[in-house]
Amino acid sequence: MAVHIGIINVSDRASVGVYEPTPGKEVQEFLNECLSHDWACEFAVIADEKALISAEVIRMADINNCCLIFTTGGTGPAKRDVTPEATEAVCDKMLPGFGEAMRQESLKFVPTAILSRQTAGIRKSCLIVNLPGKPKAIRECMGAVFSAIPYCVDLIG
Ligand code: MTE
Repeated sequence: MAVHIGIINVSDRASVGVYEPTPGKEVQEFLNECLSHDWACEFAVIADEKALISAEVIRMADINNCCLIFTTGGTGPAKRDVTPEATEAVCDKMLPGFGEAMRQESLKFVPTAILSRQTAGIRKSCLIVNLPGKPKAIRECMGAVFSAIPYCVDLIG
């Protein structure tokens, strides 16, 4: 059976069609390169609103049976950035090591990596991982933690 993966592009502007939700495509491309077994993904584009982001995570995890969800964007310090809070609100357990590892790796590339509050957590049998919104940052962050993800998904399944 195919593993089901959710990709949520969090962005006010993408949610009203101002620009293409390319961050989601970047996640999909990375997964294409790394995953060998059968998998399928679904996309959503959501505005930077805590309740909307949380509701989408719940929908993908509980109704659509995603075992893994990546969010992109909304992890920074700006007033509208609420993705980590929306994630934490619907998780049973947090996995702060993901955020720590992604920031540590990202600091090798940009000093502003410290501005991302990205984290990860578990809702029931689903792992949720926050990524920044820039495609280049997505690749750097996924590279830093991806090797732990299949094992984590196995452990919580
Ligand atoms: N991490 C990596 N690897 N590369 C980057 O360019 N940009 C940083 C940071 N993390 C960046 C990065 C910047 S400038 C910001 S503001 C934060 O991620 C938050 O980005 P977000 O609001 O798109 O989630």
